[in-house]
Amino acid sequence: METIQYNLPQDRIPRVWTNILPDLPQPLAPPLHPGTLQPLGPADLAPLFPMGLILQEASGEREIEIPEEVRQIYAQWRPSPLMRARRLEKALDTPAHIYYKYEGQSPAGSHKLNTAVAQVYYNKVEGTKRLATETGAGQWGSALSMACSFFGIECKVFMVRVSYDQKPYRRALMEVFGASVTASPSNETHAGRAILAAHPDSPGSLGIAISEAVEVAATDPETKYALGSVLNHVLLHQTVIGQEAIEQMAMAGEEPDVVIGCTGGGSNFAGLALPFLGRKIQGKCAAQIVAVEPAACPSLTKGKFAYDFGDTGHLTPLVKMHTLGSTFIPPGIHAGGLRYHGMAPLVSHVIDLGLAEAVTVQQLDAFAAGIQFARAEGIVPAPESNHAVAETIRQALLAKEEGKPRTILFNLSGHGHFDMQSYIAYQAGKLENYEYPAEEIAMALAGLPAVR
Ligand SMILES: Cc1ncc(COP(=O)(O)O)c(C=O)c1O
Repeated sequence: METIQYNLPQDRIPRVWTNILPDLPQPLAPPLHPGTLQPLGPADLAPLFPMGLILQEASGEREIEIPEEVRQIYAQWRPSPLMRARRLEKALDTPAHIYYKYEGQSPAGSHKLNTAVAQVYYNKVEGTKRLATETGAGQWGSALSMACSFFGIECKVFMVRVSYDQKPYRRALMEVFGASVTASPSNETHAGRAILAAHPDSPGSLGIAISEAVEVAATDPETKYALGSVLNHVLLHQTVIGQEAIEQMAMAGEEPDVVIGCTGGGSNFAGLALPFLGRKIQGKCAAQIVAVEPAACPSLTKGKFAYDFGDTGHLTPLVKMHTLGSTFIPPGIHAGGLRYHGMAPLVSHVIDLGLAEAVTVQQLDAFAAGIQFARAEGIVPAPESNHAVAETIRQALLAKEEGKPRTILFNLSGHGHFDMQSYIAYQAGKLENYEYPAEEIAMALAGLPAVR
């Protein structure tokens, strides 16, 4: 029989998260205090995050030990399988070898649980009673709700309005885990009320929902804030994906020529890519590393690399990242987890250094690819993951055109079982592509904070 799954035993769950910060050829620009514009110190972040996570944010350690309690929960679904997409290869009639790391096997349905468990653990250790967060697609909210229920912490989720309406079962899932879910923008916060006053029909965005969750955390001493992407510590927790993949690719006897991940805030891409990138910096890997973003929200390919707020209400620190402007509200594409105006500073930095590259995919091409993948492999990807699938198929067809073998590895970041409404809409011809909203983005970029 041909091998399809490359599985590692439970004792190969990584013992450390790998931190690429000390090995970067140039250091990351520091986050700045929004009032003083001076680099932030750990104490500035203490109202929002537990110190265990704050220290990870700027750690100079190459390896950070994963607490045993976290590893034990990882064992519910990790190590995740590496799959060879042989049926897709045959369907495409390509000489390319296609592999995918399947993170949709986690009980929450995506990679988000890798950091949710870690974040809730550090909060629990430091006595946090309640966590507030935002969610776009609902994957992050589901993961955090599940992790909170494991550790006995309350969870308050601001769910982007358009996703709240598109994905009622995601909301129900969060509620099963005991979370309280509110559509954002809401009347519960100053930030939400300000948006509703100006735009009563606002579809919401991750930037707005972040403002609401941060406001709740900043004004309640018993509540802290948790973010599902963007920050260094979140990307760090996701490196278990790439570490396992390196071992599994070795089991398959192959080195990837291309490593691909979709990018919303950058965490699943980074989780797979950073361990390969670490090897690339050491000259041990020559893979092309590709981040795939939606054409409707192209922060990496059309944004500015500049200091900006992480949220629309301007409550967060300033970080240097590829941004479309914090007031930009992306079109209501069905890949809700990719509707973010910015990108992780670390992902932005490695793209800026030329260590990785970025491409865009239109919504209809993403769904067409997802359906082609589902028909060949039997897994329905999340709409976000479809962006990575589309680039994988493009690369595999390029290999066919060139008549050259190519080993492609991509991150299948989640399943789409709660996203079937978007597949129904796609199959009924009701989804559309969105042109790059150049004018709105120009307006949002004109309002970037003045930082030299
Ligand atoms: C399945 C899935 N993939 C990808 C993403 C994008 O986020 P990130 O870029 O942090 O991986 C999300 C976000 O919600 C998601 O749910």
